[in-house]
Amino acid sequence: MADDQVQVAEPPTDAATPAQSVTFTDNRTGQSKPLEVTEGTVRAMELRQFKTDEEDFGLMTYDPAYLNTASCRSAITYIDGDKGILQHRGYSIEDLCEHSSYLEVAYLLIHGELPTADQLAQWTHEVTMHTFVHENLKVFVQGFRYDAHPMGMLLATVGALSTFYPDSKNIDDPEERRMAAIRLIAKMPTLAGFAYRHTQGMPYVYPDNDLDYAGNFLGMLFKMTELKYEPDPRLAKALDTLFILHADHEQNCSTAAVRAVGSSQVDPYSAVAAGVAALYGPLHGGANESVLRMLARIEKIENVPDFLKGVKDGNERLMGFGHRVYKNYDPRARIIKKHVDEVLEVTGSAENPLLDIAVELEKRALDDDYFTSRKLYPNVDFYSGLIYEALQIPRAMFTVMFAIPRTSGWIAQWLEMLDDPETKIARPRQIYTGHRDRDFLAGRAEVGR
Ligand code: CMC
Repeated sequence: MADDQVQVAEPPTDAATPAQSVTFTDNRTGQSKPLEVTEGTVRAMELRQFKTDEEDFGLMTYDPAYLNTASCRSAITYIDGDKGILQHRGYSIEDLCEHSSYLEVAYLLIHGELPTADQLAQWTHEVTMHTFVHENLKVFVQGFRYDAHPMGMLLATVGALSTFYPDSKNIDDPEERRMAAIRLIAKMPTLAGFAYRHTQGMPYVYPDNDLDYAGNFLGMLFKMTELKYEPDPRLAKALDTLFILHADHEQNCSTAAVRAVGSSQVDPYSAVAAGVAALYGPLHGGANESVLRMLARIEKIENVPDFLKGVKDGNERLMGFGHRVYKNYDPRARIIKKHVDEVLEVTGSAENPLLDIAVELEKRALDDDYFTSRKLYPNVDFYSGLIYEALQIPRAMFTVMFAIPRTSGWIAQWLEMLDDPETKIARPRQIYTGHRDRDFLAGRAEVGR
């Protein structure tokens, strides 16, 4: 048996060794002790007791990118990456997309239970009544250059909201928390709409509180001279479904950022701005934009095999494929795929060469050992960009389309973190690899000064 293989032995029978434990033996000292296993985890702090001598700091774990570290306990979102299952508060993403609306899902994430009809009406009313932003924010957006990226603008304006609501610093006040949740969900589409119109050099559109959440957002993007913008209900519904699909995804990079920054007890607008910043990156929320660029670069179906060869040779990545958690088809991708044809039909772009390329890429990749052996399947971003493009949303806005709905997840996670008695300021450890105790003057002499 190889040294690194786990050996199977009879479970211990002595009363001192709990069944739900692992026995850790420190071969440096011979010290051996059972460590309690709770919910499939061992407390990393338990390792600290293993020391080589009194002076030793104690053993730590080393886990760059948190590949195998649970950083919190959470009751919001459940993912089984091997089986491709996603549930929010116990409800499947398939059921939520079919029977619910984004605002209802946002309520569910934040409150833990589905709302009654009255609660949903009240919640929807409150979100709708807070969609406007202070006029100064409009001036703030106007200050950006004409070609500023809308995610950069969103990141800055969400952060700026904290200066408009200074009382939101009182994070122990339940009413302040509640209002911050409502304001963030309500104002995010408005800030996104302003950012978009700015990039187009068009006048900003104020919210229309007669429209529903997704319809109002479409209006803030596309209203021109008409007195009343009337969104196509089928497109508004498709957008609402996309919002549901992006609402939360447990401890992803941006949510971890919101929790880490929020753990310093900063106000929620600043914490959410950290989430927007994290989402901006091409490996996270920026992937859907990269997918479209990739499809455009491939240009035609005949080029797909060559492109995939380049991926397999390690020259580039197949964007929209692979996921840290899903080692199976991302259930969100399955749902989005169903909506692509529907939307393209409404927008009259059913003949879409990029869609044909995407379908061919997926088909070939799922038939290729390189991808299947690495468990690389389409993720949420593989098809979402095609829908956004059909809705005539420019590529630079794609990540913004992700940030709007993810706001409810960020807030739900932030609230859960505040109520968790185990919450402390996030502060990882490091393995120091640099020099120690150097003589400054000798160092100068060494560089010839
Ligand atoms: N194309 C080609 N090869 C890939 C890809 C890909 N998209 N993703 C992973 N691999 C390979 C990778 O090269 C590695 O191969 P090897 O074992 O030979 O070195 C193996 O698969 C494992 O990859 P990894 O980089 O260790 O996996 P990870 O868990 O660190 O990365 C990921 C996850 C999502 C960053 C990565 O799959 C990726 O870069 N995908 C493309 C970008 C993308 O679509 N991102 C959106 C993620 S879903 C939206 C969200 O939740 O934010």
